[in-house]
Amino acid sequence: MFCRNHIKTIFMVLLSTTICTLTINNVPYEDIMKNVMNSSIVEHFFHEEACACMERCLAASEDKWFTERFRRDVPPLLSLCNSTLPDHIYTWWQSLQSKSKTSYTKVIQELFTVVPGEGHYSDAGPDRCRTCAVVGNSGNLLGTKYGKLIDNHDFVFRMNKAPIKGYEKDVGSRTTHRIMYPESATHLDNSTHLLLVPFKTLDLQWLTSTLTNGTIKRTRMKVINKLQADKNKVMVMHPAFMHYVHNTWLHIKARRSYPSTGILVLIFALHICDQVSVFGFGANSKGYWYHYFEKMPKFFWRTGLHSGGIEHDVIKELQKRKLIDLYKGWTSWCF
Ligand code: C5P
Repeated sequence: MFCRNHIKTIFMVLLSTTICTLTINNVPYEDIMKNVMNSSIVEHFFHEEACACMERCLAASEDKWFTERFRRDVPPLLSLCNSTLPDHIYTWWQSLQSKSKTSYTKVIQELFTVVPGEGHYSDAGPDRCRTCAVVGNSGNLLGTKYGKLIDNHDFVFRMNKAPIKGYEKDVGSRTTHRIMYPESATHLDNSTHLLLVPFKTLDLQWLTSTLTNGTIKRTRMKVINKLQADKNKVMVMHPAFMHYVHNTWLHIKARRSYPSTGILVLIFALHICDQVSVFGFGANSKGYWYHYFEKMPKFFWRTGLHSGGIEHDVIKELQKRKLIDLYKGWTSWCF
């Protein structure tokens, strides 16, 4: 990617050439440097930036609506040292799908004997320009030819069972991260990171089991008991992060409603990327979350247990404020 660091290098070469030329022509050195240092270009490129991207650095945005919501202190990923949950978050998390009698602490300890337990992606800074494509599963991707554009991002996030084969032109062919839960899991190649979104304690137990002895064969339904995935590339979204998306970004009040995988991944991307492009989000004209790979809508009740309307409004607001690039695809879809 062409980024601020490349511009700096070109600028340095041009600057040296100019100084040499002026010196050869006997212009006093002090005059040259005074003009150079006053130039706004110098100020722009040598000012300490939050990231190395040319267009924007997300986490550094001063947009009021964004800063009221964006909380740097909420950890996106579970690690060995940040896994403790405050009571109110644990109670909320346990209410999503099913309560567990098994000790959460014990489950976490077992999990981190199998997957890496250290923090990830805390490398934001002036030398990083990480571009990310968040690819939802909406039917609005069909016919778009977004494939090359999607593949051109550093990270490509895909969700659940969404296939690539046969849809490459519209959805691309690279996947750096696949986000899933046990009931939506699919086998991965060794180059793809698995990001588990745990909606219950049993999901964490399944992850340990499916990467080792395969004893868990059912959760709410039959699940893959021996998943192909590189254990060293496995990550787990933090339940506190899920609660933060629910409360702070979506302000969900409705009982039994919680954030969709898609919105969780989008907000996750805001936290670990410098620029975010969003593809494949949007219900069809009747309000159904229809998949690009299925003939019939997945949910009989429009957006399932998720507050599709609220999620839609947040995504639109992020786009309006130029915090994300939203690719709406086929125009007959809602967005
Ligand atoms: O349906 P599934 O959860 O597999 O899709 C992944 C995500 O894509 C959803 O959680 C939702 O956020 C988004 N989606 C959408 N519009 C659709 C289908 C999915 O916004 N028509």
